[in-house]
Amino acid sequence: MIALINWLETRTGVKALMHEAFNERVPGGARWRYVWGSTLVFTFVLQMITGFMLWSAYSPSTRTAWESVYHIQHEMFLGNIIRGLHHYAAQGMVVLMAIHLIQVIIDGAYKAPREVNFWLGIVLMMIVLGLSLTGYLLPWDQKGYYATQVTTNIMSATPVVGREVQVLAQGGSDYGHLTLTRFFAMHAGILPTLLVGFLVLHIYVFRRHGLTVHDPKRAPDTTFWPDQVLKDSVACLAVLAVVLLLAMFRAPELSAPADPAVKFDAARPEWYFLFLFRFLKFHAVESLGVTFGAIIVPGIIMGIIAAMPITAKVLGNLGHTLNRAFTWALALGVVVLTLMAFYEDANNVEHQAALTEAHRDGQRAIELSIGPDKIPVEGAVTLLREDPFTHGPRLFAQHCSSCHRFNGHDGRGSLVTEAGKTDEAPSVIAAPTAADLGGFGNRQWMTAIVMDYSNHFAWMKNSTWFRDAQAKHAAGGTVDYINPDSSEMADWTSGNLDDLKSAENADNVRALVEFLAAETGHAGTTYDAALVEKGRDLAIKGSWAGALNGTSCASCHDTIGQDFPTQPDDSTASSYPTLAKYASLAWLKDFIRHPDAARHYGAKNQMVVYSSQKLSDENLDLLVRWLTHNYTPSTVPDYANQLDVLNAALAPSSSVAVEAAPKK
Ligand code: HEC
Ligand code: HEC
Repeated sequence: MIALINWLETRTGVKALMHEAFNERVPGGARWRYVWGSTLVFTFVLQMITGFMLWSAYSPSTRTAWESVYHIQHEMFLGNIIRGLHHYAAQGMVVLMAIHLIQVIIDGAYKAPREVNFWLGIVLMMIVLGLSLTGYLLPWDQKGYYATQVTTNIMSATPVVGREVQVLAQGGSDYGHLTLTRFFAMHAGILPTLLVGFLVLHIYVFRRHGLTVHDPKRAPDTTFWPDQVLKDSVACLAVLAVVLLLAMFRAPELSAPADPAVKFDAARPEWYFLFLFRFLKFHAVESLGVTFGAIIVPGIIMGIIAAMPITAKVLGNLGHTLNRAFTWALALGVVVLTLMAFYEDANNVEHQAALTEAHRDGQRAIELSIGPDKIPVEGAVTLLREDPFTHGPRLFAQHCSSCHRFNGHDGRGSLVTEAGKTDEAPSVIAAPTAADLGGFGNRQWMTAIVMDYSNHFAWMKNSTWFRDAQAKHAAGGTVDYINPDSSEMADWTSGNLDDLKSAENADNVRALVEFLAAETGHAGTTYDAALVEKGRDLAIKGSWAGALNGTSCASCHDTIGQDFPTQPDDSTASSYPTLAKYASLAWLKDFIRHPDAARHYGAKNQMVVYSSQKLSDENLDLLVRWLTHNYTPSTVPDYANQLDVLNAALAPSSSVAVEAAPKK
């Protein structure tokens, strides 16, 4: 062994180098405050190792980037830990860098003769921030895609050469595939190479001047080995432990695959850039323009920091005091702005809703990728684009939520609001004017229609058409309109509702409901065949117990129990809505396209007629499949039910409404 080392020594001088490295004098003894630089080198090495591992599985293109990160996170052995380490060590580096910088300034380690090294450090800091920025885009998910787009747009605000800078970073005038490949080249090639180069210089120059000793008389001098090495090692292990724990217990999120066609309102930069993001939102800053807020102000601040050695030289002790005061003020400002940003986001209802949706989409994308269909060759983005569970709610919110609600919300989890009448309440929760389609076609829905029709459709009474019709009716005019209270349907038992609710008929009602629900063919539920047959009999023949006997649904709805025709023909339509496969996919598609057809509501219709110009065939299909549960089942938590919140919000205004605010 010794012979081998001697052999190496004579050829390379490795022993002398090690001696040189470990016998660095540490005046005043080893101290914890000197560990920051070492932890930074350590995290950088960790980033190199995990980075190369990620690289060996990553594939930079708009069709494969998300997919490969999904593979790393969910299929590759230990991939989630490797990605987690890389993710959190990157954030750790930024934090450690800030601490290192503050420590250097407080201890006066930037002063002559160490100016050059201080500037090298600032360059290193820029490179690390550049690495964070470019890394954020690489998973090519919605979060990174939209947040980075904000950044490249900010680049275009650079004075004089803005446009050129943006084109250079984006890889052209469009933000897309070439942006990704360029960011990847920066992230895995150019920036790390620069970082290594500047780091070598930084350490070399540091060794030339040695440590800046805070308090040399504190303890006897030692050497780097073993005291300081021990402290440094403990610090590095502590960093590793924190990062590893985070990686194990808080996996970094992979949001939905980037889709330029789907807006992403939850976009935020990484948390350590939030202060700048928040700063840009101040009205005063906003009015002065992006160039001022995002380029000039940060430029001035960096300039002041870079000039600190000169300030200290020119002004002596006063300069050092000023520098320290500036650093503390800046740190305080950054912390306050970051906290403000977090606090405001946490209390921003819209942002929280956008976040909920972002999580839902992200989890759904992963769920669909896992199976059973796997990721198609066109990429994972098509999985969501063709998914009713993802797009049904959006289409509902866009087209239907002005009248209907879905479990009290607009389909996407938010309550629908309208302009308020007073300044104190600029917006109020809007009352629905049509049925809540949350449980459309399920057993509860069917039970409500049969037993409690007036109440089930009472939301309609909030509409202006209903009030107008009532007023006209009261004035003696004849109007034919849907009135949930006095409709024939509300009294289809001809006054025998008590019989329907009697114990004798309990099983019959259950059977009828089973039949009606089974006719919808909604996926995800199994129906009791014997009950269904019994229910069919009740619906068509009306074989009830008691006075109700002989009263059938078919006596009015003559098509109940039939298939929904492929070519619906109204020439023989009765004046009652068709119940041929009521609430099924085919029925619903036809209803949305032609609610005013005689087979549905005819002249009484108050719903928008959705032609294919209004709602494309593809979107109709997505919407209807969502409402009939015709999609790959999901275990992703859905939007919370808001019916109680809605009812509570509407209750106080009931006296204002024409009639009592309807409860569902
Ligand atoms: C302008 C308000 C309005 C809009 C917008 C609207 N509807 Fe309706 N909807 C109604 C009204 C009113 C009814 C009651 C029947 C009628 O008027 O045809 C109704 C009835 C329905 C029914 C029948 C419920 C039942 O079982 O009796 C369904 C299903 C439905 N709408 C779905 C939709 C969907 C899906 C959309 C969006 C594509 C939509 N509606 C948009 C007002 C609206
Ligand atoms: C006396 C005639 C009559 C009987 C019997 C009757 N209905 Fe109706 N039903 C109507 C009318 C009329 C409407 C339309 C609502 C309106 O105009 O107010 C309707 C509407 C409906 C609707 C809403 C359809 C749509 O397109 O939105 C459903 C569902 C329904 N009835 C189910 C039933 C069931 C189930 C039975 C048997 C238990 C039944 N009805 C018995 C007259 C009747």
